[in-house]
Amino acid sequence: MAYTQTARWLHWLIAAGIVVQFVLAEFASRAAEAGRLLPQLALLANHKSVGMTLLLLAGLRLVWRFRHPPPAAAEDTTAWQLIAARATHWGFYFCMFLLPLSGWLMSSASAYSVSWFNQLELPDLVGPDETLKEQLQFIHESLAKGLIALAVLHVGAALKHALWDRDDILRRMLSWPAVAASLSVVVFGTYLLIPTATSPGAGSRAQADSAVVQTSPDRVSPQPTDIPSWQIDYADSYIQFTCQQAGAPFSGRWLDWQADIRFDDKQLANSSADVTIVTRAVSSNDDERDNTLRGVEFFDVEQFDTATFVSTDFKTQAEGFTTTGQLQIKTLRLPVEFSFSVTQTESVKVLTGVATIDRLAFNVGTGDWRDTTWVGQFVEVQVRVSAQP
Ligand code: HEM
Ligand code: HEM
Repeated sequence: MAYTQTARWLHWLIAAGIVVQFVLAEFASRAAEAGRLLPQLALLANHKSVGMTLLLLAGLRLVWRFRHPPPAAAEDTTAWQLIAARATHWGFYFCMFLLPLSGWLMSSASAYSVSWFNQLELPDLVGPDETLKEQLQFIHESLAKGLIALAVLHVGAALKHALWDRDDILRRMLSWPAVAASLSVVVFGTYLLIPTATSPGAGSRAQADSAVVQTSPDRVSPQPTDIPSWQIDYADSYIQFTCQQAGAPFSGRWLDWQADIRFDDKQLANSSADVTIVTRAVSSNDDERDNTLRGVEFFDVEQFDTATFVSTDFKTQAEGFTTTGQLQIKTLRLPVEFSFSVTQTESVKVLTGVATIDRLAFNVGTGDWRDTTWVGQFVEVQVRVSAQP
């Protein structure tokens, strides 16, 4: 009796995938220590994609195992050997499921959604939660250590059977094509997944550089009009953004901004908007990402503490209105179109609108961050302004 070919292929491919996972995690942690955040992000994204593939393979493997029970142990196996072998095998299954699941939960809790190789967006299992994230991180790391301990015992036992006892335990799990394929997975997997994660895509970079146009950093303010400024209820208003990161969306808000909105749908020619955002006050549910956004490569908040949007050009459109204003981020001021609608009841007046911004045109994300494989080029900004009627 031996293992089925399917069981052997799954055994060796999953083993290879696990090796790739440890290599990617190690490179990611080295990138983090060196302060290279983009490679860290990219390596972890690949780590998550491979990990989710392994979760699927582990599911297939378990189903296969129930339908095709493993061969019986050799007759001279002692009771403790049998218990040790079974415990190791079930320990492996435990890790094969709980490592990816804890990783997926951890990513969800830290507001980094998971995508499968930038192709398939996976749902978040829980909402952002810093404490839960830290607990899951500890669980994930502990499981990874447990897996190493099991592998040492397991490989040691397999080698003992092959070299010392010279029985057929290893042979009945061996399949040379599967072992060769698995070695190729390790070699090509690390060869392909590490460089793509650490070097920026040349195409997107070249295209992006030509989009940068320097303009004057001077602030422009609209002429005062006789339309009264809206009395904004900031607690019920927001400026929010959504962008793609490693194939999955992430959102954030600016917690500190002020707006002078003088909009009247019957006096479009006289209407104006003047919005100032405190760049430092960005929050995307993850401290590390927020600090990156505040850094020189993104909003450079030490030098440019505000970003502004100023507009006097209002038009009606099929549904609601549109305004094309000047958005100023760092030293760049470019026209941006904002579409919105206004609803009014007796107690409140609400403006909701959306604009799509090309971050590369504004030089938000310089150097390697220009690569749009890992951080999307277009950012959708959603605005809600609630004011007294
Ligand atoms: C069999 C599959 C997996 C294995 C063997 C594995 C293994 C590891 C290892 C060894 C580390 C480094 C831990 C350390 O810093 O000491 C790690 C980190 C990490 N893994 Fe996994 N992992 C797997 C699946 C996943 C999946 C599916 C995800 C997410 C969907 C994931 C997300 C992460 C994250 C985000 C980190 C970094 C944690 C941190 O910030 O320290 N892992 N993983
Ligand atoms: C981290 C990588 C590995 C994992 C997760 C793993 C997991 C497992 C599991 C769960 C089984 C039980 C059979 C099944 O349900 O399919 C098994 C059997 C086996 N594994 Fe591994 N394995 C790994 C690496 C290795 C390596 C590197 C070797 C060889 C040096 C090896 C040799 C064997 C042998 C000989 C059996 C059959 C044992 C028996 O019939 O009692 N495994 N492995």
